[in-house]
Amino acid sequence: MRAMVTVTAPANIAFIKYWGTRDPRRVLPVNPSISMTLGRCRTTTTLAFTPDETAPDTVTVVDERGRATEATGSFRERVVRHLDRMRERAGRVGRFRMATRNSFPTGAGIASSASGFAALTVAAGHALGLDLSPAELSCLARESGSGSAARSLFGGYVEWPSRSGDPEAPAGPIASASHWDLSDVIAVVDQGEKEVSSVEGHRRAPSSPHYEQRQRLLAGGRIEAVRRAIAARDLAALGPLLEEEAIELHIIAMSSSPPIHYWKPATLTVLEAVRGLRRHGARAWATMDAGPNVHVICPAQDGAAVAAAIGSLPGVRQVIVDGVGEGPRLEPGHLL
Ligand code: PMV
Repeated sequence: MRAMVTVTAPANIAFIKYWGTRDPRRVLPVNPSISMTLGRCRTTTTLAFTPDETAPDTVTVVDERGRATEATGSFRERVVRHLDRMRERAGRVGRFRMATRNSFPTGAGIASSASGFAALTVAAGHALGLDLSPAELSCLARESGSGSAARSLFGGYVEWPSRSGDPEAPAGPIASASHWDLSDVIAVVDQGEKEVSSVEGHRRAPSSPHYEQRQRLLAGGRIEAVRRAIAARDLAALGPLLEEEAIELHIIAMSSSPPIHYWKPATLTVLEAVRGLRRHGARAWATMDAGPNVHVICPAQDGAAVAAAIGSLPGVRQVIVDGVGEGPRLEPGHLL
């Protein structure tokens, strides 16, 4: 057990999307999802645990300029609930001090809950002296409420749940980061907080008339086709599936009751530009999370050229060139 521990954990981008839960309380997904772990977009979290001290936990957010602010409201509540879960697991009483920082600009509209809750889970495990396997940490990270955090426990290409037909299974790697060097060029078109959380999106998803059809398509071979395309490093096979998945997620969101509209005009501008790049021979396909920003997946050697093409489009505020990366690791320096 360490008095203070710092962990960095990666964000991930889903190729097959998790959209809909069969048990919202336990965060059990309706369908398996497959993602690529990112290399540069990471959350670093420092935790200090003092046993037998029952003062309230402190949660500090450090921004890209190094300025520290005490978190309040729903973010703090979610963090403290997760720390409670970890204390309960360890059977220990005590107080946490936490500081957290994202490597990507805060408010860039990039999902930070996966990297954030993965880092928090691993750090709390160490701080409480728990000896947990990556699989156990993956299940605990899922229970934070961010299902995609379960995948951020592993590097490379990851499937969650790792055993089909068992929604309680942890995530697990299906290929290492060195297996396939892909880039994720992220076009940031909106930097604000999304209006409807993904937790609420999962809840509304079954109200869409397209929801069951999507489950049939997934079960009918799409998931298997994505696994095969990753195994064969076949971007021409993977790319169209990525786009289908992303568009379907948004069709379901837009046709949920009440509807959720994540797209901005610049989202369509980027999607059209990616199709244009392909017409000129580029191997680039787009995907999106529950938000307006577009992730363009391409071979690593094409990342800079795709970024240059996307960065000059109207409405694109920022471009982040990321790529496949490794899972969580301990860091020697602390934020507290
Ligand atoms: O982990 P959550 O509850 O933030 O949901 C993630 C939802 C998507 O990002 C849209 C899809 C996914 O599988 O990451």
